[in-house]
Amino acid sequence: MATLQDLTKHNQTALADMLTMMSEDEKNQLAQDLDNLDLEEIEALYHDVYVNRHVEAPAGELTDVAVEVKAAMAKERLTELAQLGQTAIKEGRFAALLMAGGQGTRLAHPGPKGTFSFDDVSLFELQARQLLKIAAECNTAIPWYIMTSDINHDETIAFFKEHQFFNYPEKDITFFKQPNIVALSPAGQLLLNPKGQLLTAPNGNGGIYEALAATGLYQAMKKRGVEFIYLNNIDNVLVKVLDPVFCGLAVESGADVTTKTIRPLNGESVGRVIMVDDKKQVMEYTELPEGLENQFNNGNIGIHIFRRDFLEEASTQGLPYHLAIKNLEQLDEDFAVEKKETLKFEKFYFDIFRYAETFKTLQVDRESEFSPLKNKEGKDSITTARQSLIDNHII
Ligand code: UTP
Repeated sequence: MATLQDLTKHNQTALADMLTMMSEDEKNQLAQDLDNLDLEEIEALYHDVYVNRHVEAPAGELTDVAVEVKAAMAKERLTELAQLGQTAIKEGRFAALLMAGGQGTRLAHPGPKGTFSFDDVSLFELQARQLLKIAAECNTAIPWYIMTSDINHDETIAFFKEHQFFNYPEKDITFFKQPNIVALSPAGQLLLNPKGQLLTAPNGNGGIYEALAATGLYQAMKKRGVEFIYLNNIDNVLVKVLDPVFCGLAVESGADVTTKTIRPLNGESVGRVIMVDDKKQVMEYTELPEGLENQFNNGNIGIHIFRRDFLEEASTQGLPYHLAIKNLEQLDEDFAVEKKETLKFEKFYFDIFRYAETFKTLQVDRESEFSPLKNKEGKDSITTARQSLIDNHII
């Protein structure tokens, strides 16, 4: 266990002070958390990701990614791609993978974001319904992998049970948890959560690859004959899960990574999909120098198809951490609960693109495919998401 001396040596004075005020029981409760801490690594992470952070354009030539524009495709081409996709789905070559481990701090919905409901239809159900429909049309079983995290795993499973898994065959759903990492104060101090445990948080959606590897799921997919993994997030209410046209494009191209994009609005807060030399990358709008984002015409909407063999191989390589500042509940030095700005360390799932050799990109219409539920009010909010669902005759 990290001792008081260890904590002090690594500048963790806030936690060291709190420990001196704790009862034996309280200290025992923390013992295991402290056992697993690598204080040197945490110090290095704080310095790399926060203290020495700077935004710079990636080295290399930045160009717009080459795209096929769905709206400009001939009807015959769309039909051909949809058939190719459906055949592959029928043959069991596709799995659906959902990222639902986030904290949803901006929406502040009590419970996992997927449990947020419009007229009694939850975000989870919106996706389950689509998968059920495709599975019926293709007369096949579709494995659905759902990533949760410590903060929402139990509640997510309870919600699925309460709703009889939305009639999705239980045997085809696999829940798995992403890792957690410590969160720090802006001064780099370890913190305690309201329960008096070390404050940790999910390590970003890029934690998905290590979680799939650690839980043996790449192997499980291989055994089932899965060749393509269709990844999407929980909060785009217009997401087309296992869109046959998009699946067809991935099958036809055989690319390591196939991505859907939209044309971003000026200054819009979505990552830009660009080529840096010959590698596709997503640059978060916050990580691009101001104004540069408007030079690129493809916004990332978090819908991708990966070749399974590519992901399994790439998952053995590391992904960098990025900084996220969020308001998280914690104990102050008098052990009172407060909500404060906290440094979170997050991996981004799209950083895996750097390991890919081949790419394909499909630009789609925002009106029918992208409406994220991020905030309670205003932009990308409950009101805008509901309107999109109504406009697209989904609710
Ligand atoms: P966001 O980046 O919007 O984060 O997630 P969030 O946690 O849902 O919301 P805020 O920023 O706290 O308000 C995009 C997608 O990535 C998933 C989310 O569940 C969502 O589907 N995600 C995010 C994870 O699975 N794990 C994470 O650690 C973070």
